[in-house]
Amino acid sequence: MSKSLNTSASESEQTVAQVIDTIAATTPDVRHAIAEYRGQSNSVNPSGDDQLAADLRADELFEQRVLDIDGVATYASEERAEVETTDGRLHVAMDPLDGSSNLEPNSGMGTIFGVYSERPPTAGTNLLASGFVIYGPITSMVVARGGQVREYILEDGDKRLVDDDVTLPEEPTVFGFGGGVDSWTEDFESVAEEIRYELKLRYGGAMVADINQVLTYGGVFSYPKLQSRPEGKLRHQFEGHPMAYIVESAGGRSSDGERSLLETAPDELHSRTPLYLGNADLIERVESNVN
Ligand code: AHG
Ligand code: MN
Ligand code: MN
Ligand code: MN
Repeated sequence: MSKSLNTSASESEQTVAQVIDTIAATTPDVRHAIAEYRGQSNSVNPSGDDQLAADLRADELFEQRVLDIDGVATYASEERAEVETTDGRLHVAMDPLDGSSNLEPNSGMGTIFGVYSERPPTAGTNLLASGFVIYGPITSMVVARGGQVREYILEDGDKRLVDDDVTLPEEPTVFGFGGGVDSWTEDFESVAEEIRYELKLRYGGAMVADINQVLTYGGVFSYPKLQSRPEGKLRHQFEGHPMAYIVESAGGRSSDGERSLLETAPDELHSRTPLYLGNADLIERVESNVN
């Protein structure tokens, strides 16, 4: 590799590391914000979901700090219509607060991020790294980078490595399917019916926590296409791609019902996609049933 290519590769590596550390360092302020801002904001986000004040505050905190990183060129988020641009090379797309409807009942919530080599909307194959934070009893962070998945405990925004090789357990034991049985299409309902007798239900309404259950116990998570909503609910760029990258890096599979989610690009920045993530055999069973 020529010198200039070498330096740009290590510059990208440095920027990815800085994005990860900046997101970790912002988590104490986000944890504080979710306690302070529990109300609605009387606005909707670009994909039409109600926005909580905490959604907006978390988005503000991350946007300021991520755009301050030299190598970052753009910041995109589920909560803002346009991509924010500055000069730099890499592109960060975030779901600043995932599972915010759990704020009221104080259940699982988190942050999802992806670092892309191309400006969103873009395919998941352009991910250089992705990760999520869980603001649970413990603030933890899972990061996928270079084919490796690592888990950290965050204390005062500093990362402490607790697992340097997170891999999906071979044997599936849990499943979590969003949307509700009445809204599923018949083809998904039939395969869900089989799976529910084989695995334990783990569904908490926050993708970060539900995916962490799958990474911990093995199994499958899905927010499938719905009768009324063939595109499903979850955002392709902000939730689907980063989580698919993590699950595939941990040895599992992702799918939009036909192929790896990472091979697809969202039609536009805020597109939604059906998604199936987890144990490869179960994903194959879903793909052969769901069309
Ligand atoms: P967000 O809070 O970022 O809008 O995401 C919520 C998503 C995702 O976290 C979760 O898997 C799903 O919504 C839950 O949807 P239901 O409330 O329909 O179960
Ligand atoms: Mn939302
Ligand atoms: Mn979300
Ligand atoms: Mn969100």
